Amino acid sequence: PPPKRLIVVSNRVQPPTGEGAGNQGGLAVALSAALRESSGIWFGWSGEETENFNGHIDFQRNEGVTTATMHLEAQDIDEYYNGYANRTLWPLFHDRIDLAEFQREFEGGYQRANTRFAETLTPLIHQDDLIWVHDYHLIPLGRELRARGIRNRLGFFLHIPWPPTRLLLSLPHHRELVESLFSYDVVGFQTQDWLDSFFHYAQHKLGADVGADGIVTHQGRSLKAIACPIGIDCDAFTEMAHGQEALDACRKMEESAKGRAMILGVDRLDYSKGLQDRFLGYQRFLSTYPEMQEKVFLLQIAPPTREDVRSYQEIRTQLDALSGHINGEFATVDWVPIRYVNKGYPRTQLAGIYRAARIGLVTPLRDGMNLVAKEYVAAQDPDNPGVLILSSFAGAARQMQEALLVNPHSAEDVADAIARALVMPKEERLERWRALRDGVQREDVTWWLRRFVAELARPEAEGEDDR
Ligand code: UDP
Ligand code: G6P
Repeated sequence: PPPKRLIVVSNRVQPPTGEGAGNQGGLAVALSAALRESSGIWFGWSGEETENFNGHIDFQRNEGVTTATMHLEAQDIDEYYNGYANRTLWPLFHDRIDLAEFQREFEGGYQRANTRFAETLTPLIHQDDLIWVHDYHLIPLGRELRARGIRNRLGFFLHIPWPPTRLLLSLPHHRELVESLFSYDVVGFQTQDWLDSFFHYAQHKLGADVGADGIVTHQGRSLKAIACPIGIDCDAFTEMAHGQEALDACRKMEESAKGRAMILGVDRLDYSKGLQDRFLGYQRFLSTYPEMQEKVFLLQIAPPTREDVRSYQEIRTQLDALSGHINGEFATVDWVPIRYVNKGYPRTQLAGIYRAARIGLVTPLRDGMNLVAKEYVAAQDPDNPGVLILSSFAGAARQMQEALLVNPHSAEDVADAIARALVMPKEERLERWRALRDGVQREDVTWWLRRFVAELARPEAEGEDDR
């Protein structure tokens, strides 16, 4: 039979070369790569505001991908996107309960926006379509689609960590949120750790039955839960790193480095990325290894994101101060230790900047996966690769054991890893990089897509509940 049509749904829909390329994050990057592989449509929020929501859909075709987007009202954006998604769930799921805000209006807005997604999407669905919903913005969407009579196979993928049960319990109505996952047939997580946390909640808080095959049954409904780490389009990225734009960017970086080794960070300006601890780790490196001063510099690219949310405004102010403080402490007339850039770059140029970096410094405090780590590896010069320093708290660490794994909270750990990376013999660099590259290439975005879709397209198991 011909492959079924795939409908992908996510809050953010943005082809990486489209307007605003540069801070769209890993989900949009991966989905556009994945959708080029399969025919289908990508449905979501346009990122724009409308005065009166009317369910109008704007269809566009972009680089082989059809997108269908709708505008939302200011109140939805405020309560659903800035509110429940990014002031409640995001901090909580990234272990920052101190930043999580619980407000009833947020819950209402989240529910309303999910209803709007469902109402608008339902008429687009054909009988045989596979529907795949993405990320924490849209957890209840499956339930809303079922309530509108949709009987298609429904999948859900969570791009961020699933929190430990004790944390999740602090979310008002946590049970309702988790139970809504049971409207899906397949639920995917980035790593085994997040999957285990989900099983723990299902078993201990819902009293669900968790089978060895990942089938979780609760009140007569079953879902299959899997760990399925997302990847990048490795070959395309490597090719991009050899393209003209990347080579120009690489050359420009090398010229401006004046023989100094570049340490590179690339992250949305998000508190989960551990930028403060990273700067402190670098500061520790400069003071512990004074002979290295003036021989290195840190380039931190950090495009602002979610700027209407206060915790993001605060982290920005703190980082401005900290980078200024470190530069003031160590800079000389012709050396600036940290180049801190609050601007996004297109991946065509980033690929070249990665290549010019002796160290890729990726130290999130919590991260569902982290594609920057994979891109850094894919972009390296095979004859003279740089070293990846990676937080053991990034989902990517599971697959990238040959990186220098660090505890991002420990300034000493980060400082020592930088020092070690700078003097690492070429042989060791090559050996680590080859192993990393093989993994990134093998478990790439197509592998991820096919694995999930194969699970989703599987004919319904016998005895599965009737929806
Ligand atoms: N990115 C970009 N330009 C920038 C910074 C980041 O295109 O200036 C891209 C980066 O190449 C990567 C994605 O944004 O593909 C970030 O994904 P990741 O999984 O590392 O983090 P997320 O932002 O999803 O938390
Ligand atoms: C992370 C989330 C995505 C989100 C992206 C960018 O990758 O998992 O769902 O799209 O960050 O954030 P934004 O709020 O700009 O969509």
